[in-house]
Amino acid sequence: MERKITQNEKVKELFGYEERNELTWKQRGVIEKKMQELYGLTHDEAFVFVLYCTNLDVKPEDLKEKKVLDVGSGSGYFKKSLEKIIGKSDFVNFDRDIFEDEDQSLDVLGLAESLPFKDESFDLILTHCSTPVMLATGGNFELIAPTVKELLRVVSRGGTIKIYPVDFGDKELGGLANPAGREMFGLIKKEIQEADRNFKFKIIKIKSELGDYGTLIEIKKN
Ligand SMILES: C[S@@+](CC[C@H](N)C(=O)[O-])C[C@H]1O[C@@H](n2cnc3c(N)ncnc32)[C@H](O)[C@@H]1O
Repeated sequence: MERKITQNEKVKELFGYEERNELTWKQRGVIEKKMQELYGLTHDEAFVFVLYCTNLDVKPEDLKEKKVLDVGSGSGYFKKSLEKIIGKSDFVNFDRDIFEDEDQSLDVLGLAESLPFKDESFDLILTHCSTPVMLATGGNFELIAPTVKELLRVVSRGGTIKIYPVDFGDKELGGLANPAGREMFGLIKKEIQEADRNFKFKIIKIKSELGDYGTLIEIKKN
């Protein structure tokens, strides 16, 4: 008898799917220390740098020629570390809040759901532990659709959007078995599918040493 294709198999086939292991805390610590020694990063810069590179799957050398937007950049340590490592300048730190932290390097203040940028103006958009498209920071469901629309609008042709973490609401695909996560993922998927057939969508499930998962979503605009 022919086996029925499960919903998860369909999702994996339709969108592109990968699995990998996260670095352990010990491995992270070794890399952070090395980055501090080699490039004079502060402890905070090294910590955020390693998190961004591993969770968003980016390498400094791949960012060199790209115009990058960091949505919900917080204190902006990723930009600061790139300035020290590759002399990166074409990078916009964007956040809704100005912090008291005198270290912060915010370039543009505003909301992810109404980005103050022209269409197709960034080659790479990063959202790391930020924006409403994330339950852990108290994701607001009403803001998911406008935020995703804005990200799709300002990314250039040939460009990429990376969002981490997105809870899938499904252990097999990544994330917790959380109905809210499932609903959120459904909303993101709907926006991408409605926007344009030119968007390609990939799910990367990242397993931590504790055995739980964080999920990265990569959206490419052709
Ligand atoms: C947990 S911090 C992450 C900071 C940084 N991305 C990192 O990983 O180190 C979340 C950030 O997202 C910002 N944020 C949350 N909702 C936002 C929105 N709607 N528009 C712009 N920024 C937002 C917050 O102000 C905060 O700085």
